[in-house]
Order: sequence, then structure tokens, then C-alpha cells
Amino acid sequence: MRKEQRMIESEIYAVEELDSTYRRLYEAAFEAAGRAYAPYSGFQVGAALLLANGEIVTGSNQENIAYPSGLCAERTALFYAGARYPGVAVQVLAVAAVKDGVRQSGVSPCGACRQVMVETEMRSGAPIRILLCGRESATLFYGISSLLPYCFDSF
Ligand code: THU
Repeated sequence: MRKEQRMIESEIYAVEELDSTYRRLYEAAFEAAGRAYAPYSGFQVGAALLLANGEIVTGSNQENIAYPSGLCAERTALFYAGARYPGVAVQVLAVAAVKDGVRQSGVSPCGACRQVMVETEMRSGAPIRILLCGRESATLFYGISSLLPYCFDSF
């Protein structure tokens, strides 16, 4: 038997510390949250992607009266990016949430969205930087392996 430890590194920025690219994505993610269709949870989530071609693609959660038929903001954005710009790498994914008109802290992608990010990285071969946006700060991770270690990526 041997023991293994994996360390997860992240960088926490005050909003004012974010460089102009991350700041743009931070604002785009909160703006996208405002376009959510979330009448059942009242939890509006926005995702903003920076693509390798310079485009910013956004998505928001789209709920459904048959709950499992709805989709998270991250997957809405990732699937749209794949459909609109096939073969173009996703460099950064920013995610943000709003509830009752108030910007929330602590939003973090669900397991299914993380698995889709794994596949997105596999397609481009490059890590996605993930920016979790809060009210006063944002946390940056380098690559989905930080959020989904021991993921399913081969069979
Ligand atoms: N949701 C997202 O869109 N992304 C996340 O990272 C967490 C959860 C959505 C799904 C559902 O519409 C609502 O938030 C409440 O779970």
C-alpha cells in the first residue's frame, strides 16, 4: 500500500484585482445570470466562456417544469460554444449566480457540468481556467482536474 495526496491549488482575487480579461468574464457571467430561466429554483446562474478565437460565449440555466429536462448555465454555454464554434478551444469558463436580485458567492459547478468540462478539455488538449465568481472575490482554478480529480476520461 502507498498513500497518495493530491493538492488543489487556486488563486483568490478581490474583484478589483482581476485583470481586464477576467474582469470582463466576471461581469459577463453575472449579466448572463440575469438571462436565466429559473422560475422553479429562483437561482439564476450565468456562465461566460472565453474561446481561443477571442469570442465570449455566454449561457444561463434553463429550467423546465419536468425538472431533469432543464440545463445548467455551464452546459448551456459549453454546448452552444461547441455547436457555434466547433473545434475552437475554451480557454476560460466563468460562472456566477444571482438570487432575488443579489449577487451570490460560493457557486460551484455541479458534477455533470464538470464532466462536460473534462470532455471539452479532452477535445482541445488544453486546460480550461475556471473562474468561480463571488460578490467580492473570484477564485481561479487551472484545469478541470482541480475540480474533478480522478475523472472518467478513458475506457
Ligand atoms: N445550476 C447551474 O446552472 N449551475 C451550477 O453551477 C449550479 C446549479 C442551476 C441548476 C438549477 O437550474 C438551479 O441552478 C438550482 O439548482
